[in-house]
Amino acid sequence: MDIIISPSLLSANVCNYAEDFGVFNQKDIKSIHIDLMDGHYVPNISFGLDQIASLRKLTDAEFDVHLMVTDPDKFVETLVEAGTNSITIHAEVATHLYKSIHYLKSFGIKAGVAINPATSLQCLEYVYPLLNRVLIMSVEPGFGGQAFVPFALEKIKQLNKIKEDGNYDFTIQVDGGINIDNIEDVIKCGARDIVIGSSLFKQDLSENIDLFNNKINEIINTP
Ligand code: DX5
Ligand code: ZN
Repeated sequence: MDIIISPSLLSANVCNYAEDFGVFNQKDIKSIHIDLMDGHYVPNISFGLDQIASLRKLTDAEFDVHLMVTDPDKFVETLVEAGTNSITIHAEVATHLYKSIHYLKSFGIKAGVAINPATSLQCLEYVYPLLNRVLIMSVEPGFGGQAFVPFALEKIKQLNKIKEDGNYDFTIQVDGGINIDNIEDVIKCGARDIVIGSSLFKQDLSENIDLFNNKINEIINTP
């Protein structure tokens, strides 16, 4: 069972980026989750596109951009030029979801769709075969450090059944409110890419990565 933790850079201290990326490399982090916000779709602003290009030089890990913007198509080309490997857009903002997914894929990157806690899986029914990633938001998007919305577990479980029944390739990603006490639940429901922000960056990043990785190994190895 392949399970990864994806550090969410939103919770990192901007003054420590170089050091934190050193830790990511040392701990063999495969994917870094970058939340891009426009202050319109969500009431917050995070990274600029040039920042992403600068950070790209610090690691070979995948850059997984979670676009929390009203007009996602507008940013795709620049993000790809900046070295982004995967882009996830929100189903709630996509006026033409099918077309936007094709647009993402036309750049040869991984294409993902995110859905907020109150959004039903139904909107993805016809696009599952096209997707590399489905992101189940377990908080409302916009901020780190929020509490996990419990019914996200049921949604992950339903999505995992759909994936198995349809033999789809997409990875189930979960984002928001993950901590050492609930990671087992999301994994047992079917999540395989676990985005972690505040629980990873509080206190010692390196020790926290070990803590989560050890917990994952324990989960995988317990029958
Ligand atoms: C929220 C973001 C998350 C956030 C997660 O809008 O999409 O990626 O950084 O942070 P935690 O793990 O603190 O909920
Ligand atoms: Zn995110």
